[in-house]
Amino acid sequence: MRLFAVAVLASCALSAAGDEFTEQELERWAQHFEDVAQQGRDLWTSPELGTNGVACAQCHPNAANTHPETYPKFQKQLGRVAQMWEMVNWCIRNPLEGTDLAVDDPRMTALLAYAHKERRGVELDPGKH
Ligand code: HEC
Repeated sequence: MRLFAVAVLASCALSAAGDEFTEQELERWAQHFEDVAQQGRDLWTSPELGTNGVACAQCHPNAANTHPETYPKFQKQLGRVAQMWEMVNWCIRNPLEGTDLAVDDPRMTALLAYAHKERRGVELDPGKH
């Protein structure tokens, strides 16, 4: 038991030390994020997620009216408290007549990265309508 506690303490100390990042790491990770957000923007403005030639940007230019800061929230189309990716899939199925993306599909991550980036700095307000 005591050994376990020591191991836990040691790993906490390690992870605290791990919070110090080099400038190089921060730049590299920021660049990874920017690349993924750019892929999201490309998908957002292309019809490839659907079957009818419609793109997200036609109704949500620059990710407008997606309100990422309000999730999770009750969504009346789904009848329950939902996460934003569920509404992304709702729009892929309905206006785009496409097929749901898996929640861990890199394209879903890219779409969410782009929408969140567009709302950077807006205060979190989960549940808001
Ligand atoms: C034909 C127009 C149209 C297109 C194209 C469209 N949407 Fe939507 N979207 C809507 C409507 C209508 C709603 C429901 C609005 C509401 O709930 O207030 C909505 C809601 C959303 C929401 C939730 C918004 C909120 O305020 O919580 C997200 C996120 C979203 N869409 C993402 C997407 C994505 C990503 C795509 C492309 C894959 C897309 N939409 C394509 C019309 C569209």
